[in-house]
Amino acid sequence: MSVRRDAAANLIGRYEGETLGAEAMIIGSHIDSVRNGGRYDGPLGIMLGIDVVEALHRAGRRLPFAIEVVAFGDEEGSRFPASMSCSRAIAGTLDASALEMKDADGITVAEALTAFGADPANIASTARRPEDVLAFLEAHIEQGPVLEAEGLALGVVTAIAAQKRLMVRIKGMAGHAGTTPMALRKDPGPAAAEAILALERICRVGTDGLVGTVGRMTALPGAFNVIPGAIEFSMDIRAETSATRDAAVEAITAEIHAIAAARGLSATVTLMQALAESPCDPSLMGLLEEALSDLGLPARRLPSGAGHDAMVMANLCPTAMLFIRCEGGISHNPAEAVTEADCALAAQAMLGFLEKLAARNPRPSTSSG
Ligand code: GLV
Ligand code: MN
Ligand code: MN
Repeated sequence: MSVRRDAAANLIGRYEGETLGAEAMIIGSHIDSVRNGGRYDGPLGIMLGIDVVEALHRAGRRLPFAIEVVAFGDEEGSRFPASMSCSRAIAGTLDASALEMKDADGITVAEALTAFGADPANIASTARRPEDVLAFLEAHIEQGPVLEAEGLALGVVTAIAAQKRLMVRIKGMAGHAGTTPMALRKDPGPAAAEAILALERICRVGTDGLVGTVGRMTALPGAFNVIPGAIEFSMDIRAETSATRDAAVEAITAEIHAIAAARGLSATVTLMQALAESPCDPSLMGLLEEALSDLGLPARRLPSGAGHDAMVMANLCPTAMLFIRCEGGISHNPAEAVTEADCALAAQAMLGFLEKLAARNPRPSTSSG
């Protein structure tokens, strides 16, 4: 492969097809991680892409399309408030304001990219033209228990759940923890606790795979002996449809304002990111299923509750996702584990998928521009 890094710091390897400059089948996933994450969430999909190209190269096989293996950065949104910045740059959906987002130390995305040696001023050059991209395939650990429970190595993803990220700030008044009587405090701590219970209650009775998480919480200024002046916490709300997700966000937001008002406090709820649900392409799903069945594997279809770069790439081209069984369904945890045998099957399935795609698109199509 010829390898380059684009202006958004995506690492891209290109394996030409039968014709130089043909449209590209992009295979990839993300190379970043959550704090204290596992080894496979992201990197496995990149390694499998490289593995597949290696197999083609060894066999001297060129396809009617090029293959590009992409290692996206910043899928998880661990450092900055929004996620998937790098795939959004490739899909052409990265808003310029995303470069101004700041991390906990006040460093902007643009500054971080520059320090890394990337080129934020040229971020627009990262966007790919739809006519240059045939499709996107992402292999990823399931991050859930379904395949393992059913004794299956692989699954075909049907769609990725819609998600929203919000930041909540409940404001009270900082004070002395020893001298301020309980009844005379404006303590946002108990209000935040009530708000989280409300989120849990609303999501528990929800349908359509509704889930809600408070994964980050800060008491300000943050000391044993200071009643906090404010509490800030994140909310991650997901469901199979944007409508279900949005109804839950509305209900939770109304509860937060009511809880704060009842305690004489004020609250703000700020939307940081919204990603719509993303169905995978039916015909590509069909090709993946055929590839699994050629290997003697049942084609189990399942939705993804986790977010993936594929949901962003769907703005650029048709997408497909292959899930790989992971131990205990555990992810976002150093205990993440897969077997070598399952990964080998995944690579074979991906090769089979590419050959089927080649058979369907036999004529080398070249870039129009
Ligand atoms: C990524 O892992 C996400 O689902 O947030
Ligand atoms: Mn991932
Ligand atoms: Mn992840």
